[in-house]
Amino acid sequence: MAFTLPNLPYAFEALEPHIDALTMQIHHDKHHQAYVDNLNKAIAGTPNEGKSLEELVKAAGTISPAVRNNGGGHWNHSFFWEILAPNAGGTPDGKLGEAINSTFGSFDAFKEKLATSGVGRFGSGWAWLIVKDGKLEISSTPNQDNPLMDVAEVKGTPILGVDVWEHAYYLKYQNKRADYLKAIWNVINWKKVAELYAAAH
Ligand SMILES: [Fe+2]
Repeated sequence: MAFTLPNLPYAFEALEPHIDALTMQIHHDKHHQAYVDNLNKAIAGTPNEGKSLEELVKAAGTISPAVRNNGGGHWNHSFFWEILAPNAGGTPDGKLGEAINSTFGSFDAFKEKLATSGVGRFGSGWAWLIVKDGKLEISSTPNQDNPLMDVAEVKGTPILGVDVWEHAYYLKYQNKRADYLKAIWNVINWKKVAELYAAAH
């Protein structure tokens, strides 16, 4: 069965003013849709047709670049929409908050480290908070790779991911990726991230 574009779980303008409506609309309806369409094209009539998205992503090193890039794009964006939310942000509490404090020293130190990882990613890619061997870690990946992939430098289970492709921020923030990475904390859905953390360790 062909892959399909998931609906955004909120309106395009729901993340304003931190992420603008037009960016959300183009990002979801055009960019994400293109990953889905190109993934379907790339697997049609091949042994990869019928495999789950996670199976494809985990085997990134052994599949064609088109399946790796578009399968990664589909997985990463489906994940990204879920860990953002309107009326969100704030500080994570409970076990996740404790783990962030004990791993990185403080919530502010964690935010700074993730931002550094995102700003430092040359070109296009993603910054991640992952669970690896039960512990939190920050990593980044190029292009549409992700930490589930066999080819990832640092492998683990993503619980938060930030898209640092220009298409994620350029209309509002232009060349100022660091400003986008500051603003995004206002729309991080910590409830969802905490659920992913609970499931991953
Ligand atoms: Fe994106």
